[in-house]
Amino acid sequence: MYHITYKLKAQRIDQKNMALLPILTVPDPLLKTVSSPVETVDDALRNFMDDMLETMYAAPGIGLAAVQVGRPIRLLVMDLAEEGEAPDPQYYINPEITWTSEELATYNEGCLSVPDQYADIDRPTECKITYLDYHGKKQKIHATGLFSTCIQHELDHLNGIIFIDYLSTLKKNMAVRKVKKLVKEG
Ligand code: NI
Repeated sequence: MYHITYKLKAQRIDQKNMALLPILTVPDPLLKTVSSPVETVDDALRNFMDDMLETMYAAPGIGLAAVQVGRPIRLLVMDLAEEGEAPDPQYYINPEITWTSEELATYNEGCLSVPDQYADIDRPTECKITYLDYHGKKQKIHATGLFSTCIQHELDHLNGIIFIDYLSTLKKNMAVRKVKKLVKEG
């Protein structure tokens, strides 16, 4: 469905030399869409990934999916380096989960598209992922701990799922209402 707001957002994103991208917040319907696979890994995509990373750092966040900045393509950026450590930018193009552990871990998650709202979410402690890297080369990785939690949270975005979707309808609606109020108040 066409929506004027998205056209305006897309025009803003298309401007050259613009590094910080607007982050969509719930209940923006674009966040519910299933993102499409990336066809080509080229310089234009790398520029976009760099802008995504800068946007994520500025927010600040540890992970960001392309759909959160208005482009529903299967692409994530992450950086789990702790304060004082060297930056560790990571790019995941067309990521796919190939295995998850039966054991679950609980983490108090937050999301740049659901500002100021946090909830305990259970996810597999470990997972294995295949993806294309920054240069379009096929890679696989075994994720554990916060890395596993974060990449699963980001991968959910590519399938239109936000962490609050795992909560009761009551809690989810409350979170969305709070975000709408927050955004309205600027
Ligand atoms: Ni998120």
